[in-house]
Amino acid sequence: MNILLLGSGGREHALAWKLAQSPSLAKLYAAPGNPGIAEEAECVALEVTDHGAVIAFCAEKRIGLVVVGPEAPLVDGLSDSLRAAGVPVFGPSQAAARLEGSKGFTKDLCQRAGIPTAGYVRTSSLEEARAALARFAAPYVLKADGLAAGKGVVIAATLAEAEAALADMFGGAFGGAGAQVVIEEFMEGEEASFFALTDGTAIVPFGSAQDHKRVGDGDVGPNTGGMGAYSPAPVLTPELQARVMAEIIEPTVRTMREEGNTYQGVLFAGLMLTADGPKLIEYNARFGDPECQVLMMRLRDDLANIMWLCATGRLDELDEESPEFEAVYALTVIMAANGYPGTPEKGGAIDISACDQTGARDQRHLKIFHAGTALKDGALVANGGRVLAVTATGASVTEAQAKAYAAVDAITFPTGFCRRDIGWREVAREAEV
Ligand code: AMP
Ligand code: GLY
Repeated sequence: MNILLLGSGGREHALAWKLAQSPSLAKLYAAPGNPGIAEEAECVALEVTDHGAVIAFCAEKRIGLVVVGPEAPLVDGLSDSLRAAGVPVFGPSQAAARLEGSKGFTKDLCQRAGIPTAGYVRTSSLEEARAALARFAAPYVLKADGLAAGKGVVIAATLAEAEAALADMFGGAFGGAGAQVVIEEFMEGEEASFFALTDGTAIVPFGSAQDHKRVGDGDVGPNTGGMGAYSPAPVLTPELQARVMAEIIEPTVRTMREEGNTYQGVLFAGLMLTADGPKLIEYNARFGDPECQVLMMRLRDDLANIMWLCATGRLDELDEESPEFEAVYALTVIMAANGYPGTPEKGGAIDISACDQTGARDQRHLKIFHAGTALKDGALVANGGRVLAVTATGASVTEAQAKAYAAVDAITFPTGFCRRDIGWREVAREAEV
C-alpha cells in the first residue's frame, strides 16, 4: 500500500519513521515533510487546502491511505473530500473533528453523555461572559471556542484579570476562534494524556503520556505546544485507564456515532486526575506533538496496518495482542529556537552528527526527530519554533531522561534551548522508592 502523510513536524517525523518500518507499506509520500521525514519518505509539495490537488495526487500515485498529522486539515474537512473520492483516510471528518475544533461542542457532548468534565457556560458576547463570571470562583478558566494553536486558554487568578482576558478574546485576540468563549470550573489535579484509536465503533487504547506545556524549567513561563514528554505515564494506572475508557472514551465514541458524527482516527484525551477521578480537560482529533514521538518509539506493531484498519472500519480485525508497546519508558526533550514560543530565531546551525542513532529501529536506543528544520546548502539549520525532539528509551524514566540529555549535550545548536527537567515528576517519584 502507498501512503501519503500530511504534515511537517516532529509528530509527523515520528509517524513517518514508524510507517517506514511497516511491512504493509509499499511507498511513503509526505507533504510537505521536513529533512528528517525526507529520510523515510519522498517529500512532495502539495497545498493541503486544495482538496482537488490532494485527490488528484492520490489518484496518480495510487495512494491507499492518507494519514493526516495536524488538526487544521481535519477541521477544514479534507478527510470528507478524500473519502468522497474513495480514498481511505486516517483522521476524523470535519463534523467529528469538532471535538477539537469547538470547545463548546465538546462540553455540550459531555453534558449529554454524562462524561466527567469541569462545569461550564458557553457565552457569545462580552456582556454575557462578564455576567457568567459571577457563577464561578477564582481561578477563572476561559477558553476561546475555536482553534487557537494551543493559546486560546487563559487561567485568570482574579476577577479583574478574567474580565481583561474576556475583553481581549471578544476583541478578536484569537480571531474567529474567540467569537464564543467557554467559561469553566477550575479542576485540581495532575494532568495526563490518553490515546485511543477508533474506527467509529471498535476502540483500542493506544497508550498514555505526560507532556510539559510551559516553556521554562519547573513549569513556569508561557504555554508552548509542548517542550517534552514521556510515555507511559505511570499516574494513569491500569485501573484509571479502564475508568477513562468506560467513563470518557467509550461514551464519546458511542454518542458521536449515534448522533451521526462517527469519529474515526486517534482520539487524544487531555485528562485531569482529580480527587473525584479522571475528568476530561479537552480532546484533540490527532496525535499530540511531542506525545506522538514517545508513543512511536515504543510501538511494536505495523502502524500502517493499524491505521488502515481504522480508516476502513475494520479495527475489530486487529490481533488480540495489538497494539503492543515495548515495556520501556520513552522520553523526548524538545530543542527549540531562541525566542520560542514568541518569534523564533531562524537559520541557526545545527549539528547532530555526534549522536549515535544506530539501533533506534530496535527501539532500544535514541532517535532525533526533526520538527522545524531545513537544509541550507546541504547543512541542517533551524526553521521553526520547536526544532528537534531528542527521544530516548530506558528501563525507567530516570534512565530515559539521562540518555536523552546525554544526546542533547552532544548536539551543537548555539541558537537553541531546551528545558533541563523533562520528566521531573516521575523522576522524583522513582527516587522515592
Ligand atoms: P486546553 O487547551 O483545554 O488543554 O487547556 C490548556 C491547559 O489549561 C491545560 O493543559 C490545563 O493545564 C489548563 N486547564 C484547562 N482547563 C482547565 C480546567 N477546567 N481546570 C484547570 N486547568 C485547566
Ligand atoms: N502536546 C500537546 C498537543 O499536541 O496538543
